[in-house]
Amino acid sequence: MTDERPLKVALLGCGVVGSQVARLMTTHAADLAARVGAPVELAGIAVRRPGRLREGVLSELITTDAHGLAGRPDIDVVVEVIGGIEPARSLISTAFENGASVVTANKALLAQDGPTLYAAADKYDADLYFEAAVAGAIPLLRPLRESLAGDTVNRVLGIVNGTTNFILDRMESSGAGYSEALEEAGALGYAEADPTADVEGFDAAAKAAILAGIAFHTRVRLDDVHREGITEVTASDIASARRMGCTVKLLAICERAADGRSVTARVHPAMIPLTHPLASVREAYNAVFIEADSAGSLMFYGQGAGGVPTASAILGDLVAACRNKVSGARGPGESAYTMLPVSPMGDVVTRYHISLDVADKPGVLSQVAAVFADHGVSIDTVRQQGKDGEASLVVVTHRAPDAALTATVETLRGLDTVRGVASIMRVEGE
Ligand code: HSE
Repeated sequence: MTDERPLKVALLGCGVVGSQVARLMTTHAADLAARVGAPVELAGIAVRRPGRLREGVLSELITTDAHGLAGRPDIDVVVEVIGGIEPARSLISTAFENGASVVTANKALLAQDGPTLYAAADKYDADLYFEAAVAGAIPLLRPLRESLAGDTVNRVLGIVNGTTNFILDRMESSGAGYSEALEEAGALGYAEADPTADVEGFDAAAKAAILAGIAFHTRVRLDDVHREGITEVTASDIASARRMGCTVKLLAICERAADGRSVTARVHPAMIPLTHPLASVREAYNAVFIEADSAGSLMFYGQGAGGVPTASAILGDLVAACRNKVSGARGPGESAYTMLPVSPMGDVVTRYHISLDVADKPGVLSQVAAVFADHGVSIDTVRQQGKDGEASLVVVTHRAPDAALTATVETLRGLDTVRGVASIMRVEGE
């Protein structure tokens, strides 16, 4: 053991993740002290419902006065696992004003207001760590911020939401439709009672904003991220993907433009080849594929949610913040020096898979092909299957600006011979 004074930790929130942080801090106390160089003591836990039974958590540590706890002068590190914007934002401000370092899992707050949090950490000479905010247990932000600090990251392609990966994986393996797979995800505890944040892509978009900012040393906010969820994905999209040797994943994609002068960040379902490493990420697992100039391709894989895995990431940050307190050092602050602007979705260059229901008569194929040509979109493959005077036409394009692809689809919708656009999906990862 060490002679250093104990470092005092305030835990704000004691739900699925917080209760595991409290448990691990107690059961691993000796190892944490040895690794930090001083005992790490849980000094208080702020909760909203004090009467709730929390197994293994000392009841004398519980308080409902979160502001009082975050502002206590003896607190060295505040761990915020409440989530959401308020009261988390003001509690974190109180912690910094009090000179405490902050460890948080709050992706929504970081994606909305990251620069303000970094500025407060700087002003009060404190640390801000948030490994648990993106992809739960997976060490991702520290490798990006520290291990790749000497490299140039060009692309981040990730499955960063376990709920939607579980649903798409079930649709793929059982042929189920979206609603059926969502129901199964709810029954197994993967989807929340209100799954909107996951299935509409808000959760993944917040993570994409955080990843893009760190990867490209710039600022990307949630509003900068183009977002489409998985609610429109059909069993027939998944079957079409399979015919092309692809699978469908909800991807968070952050890219540096080819000229290096801007970045883009987007979340949407996409077809990826079965040969891509992300295609093998099943069930509720997360994985992030990073392409860097010198390192080449890297993949980070693991559990992106759950109390114990997320608590692992928080404890790692807690050890880092405590070590800095002992040595008088500071962890990395914001690195946004490139200030690269975020381009709109229309500027993204990608490929489309478009499935059309058309009349099966002479000239239809050339009429459809002319629409692609008029918008400067080059066709890669066309597959047609006719039946009783109607046909299904599947067109896969070469890479083109998303705005040109969107305009192509709009024009196709207006043709008399096009009965309907059955599905449109981007093709990525090639
Ligand atoms: N709800 C998220 C998921 C985990 O399904 O991956 C927390 O970000």
